[in-house]
Amino acid sequence: CSLQNRRIFFGGSNALMSLEAVVRNRESLEKKSAAIRSAGPSKLQVIADFDGTLTKYTVDGRRGQTSHGLLQQGNAEYDAKRQALYDYYHPLEYSPTIPLEEKTKLMEEWWEKTHGLLVEGGLTFDAIKKSVADATIAFRDGVVELFEFLEEKDVPVLIFSAGLADIIEEVFRQKLHRSFKNIKVVSNRMVFDDNDRLISFKGKTIHVLNKNEHALDMAAPVHDNLGDPNGSVNDYSLVKNRTNVLLLGDHIGDLGMSDGVEYENRISVGFLNGNTEESIGSYREAFDVVYLNDASMWGVIELASQLC
Ligand code: TMP
Repeated sequence: CSLQNRRIFFGGSNALMSLEAVVRNRESLEKKSAAIRSAGPSKLQVIADFDGTLTKYTVDGRRGQTSHGLLQQGNAEYDAKRQALYDYYHPLEYSPTIPLEEKTKLMEEWWEKTHGLLVEGGLTFDAIKKSVADATIAFRDGVVELFEFLEEKDVPVLIFSAGLADIIEEVFRQKLHRSFKNIKVVSNRMVFDDNDRLISFKGKTIHVLNKNEHALDMAAPVHDNLGDPNGSVNDYSLVKNRTNVLLLGDHIGDLGMSDGVEYENRISVGFLNGNTEESIGSYREAFDVVYLNDASMWGVIELASQLC
């Protein structure tokens, strides 16, 4: 199915339920695509959010879990405390009416409390493995094919998430059963003691609205690329030289993920997962292409194949 034949919407706001993609400005998109293609794959990098972007919003009719949400600490009291925080803060996260500054404070509060509960209530790496095995989480159709395509073209993928790096990497191990030498995860990373118990988190917390402040972290050398600990470490450390960016996110705040790169061209793709009617206007302004209704990654693969 080509991008031309796909149900694409160029204006208005009717019938959103049946649409798959909204393109802000086709001419500008084609111009950027041509510029990226002519610079070649060595100048391209992909920066992707994880939860709700690489993963489905709905899995088998249920809300898909996030890397945070799937975690069962093995301590019912603390699981319930984190769930109560989720019930309170998650609607605020997606509210289109809360001003950015206020929402940022709320998100800081949420992450701080949740991380605190994970340390206080006890968490082991075994509990992470079990939680992932039991989780309602699935990659969007086409994600593996997208990664394979980008690996073949030697294009690095930075997964930039406000979730939990240790869990995202476990999701890759368990759900994909394979590794990709071009992928690096930048996310909140746990520190375990010798008995594999969580004792703290590394560095400054990344939440959904401060990714721009962490964007430079991505330029750090790759130590934790999935799968191939010996290979390609230096190949992907110089992401700053890759001045063309394909950015994938599900929040307007995700656009800040590319702030550490002085990019020449950026194509931004947004997955609009909730509050479609209220948010389509701002998403259409913010992203070059907006995917609706829990779309697959096939459209992004087609876009990527036009870029390299
Ligand atoms: P991201 O992977 O899209 O950057 O964001 C992480 C998601 O994690 C975000 O949508 C909110 C969610 N979350 C939970 O489900 N439970 C939590 O305790 C916290 C702090 C975040």
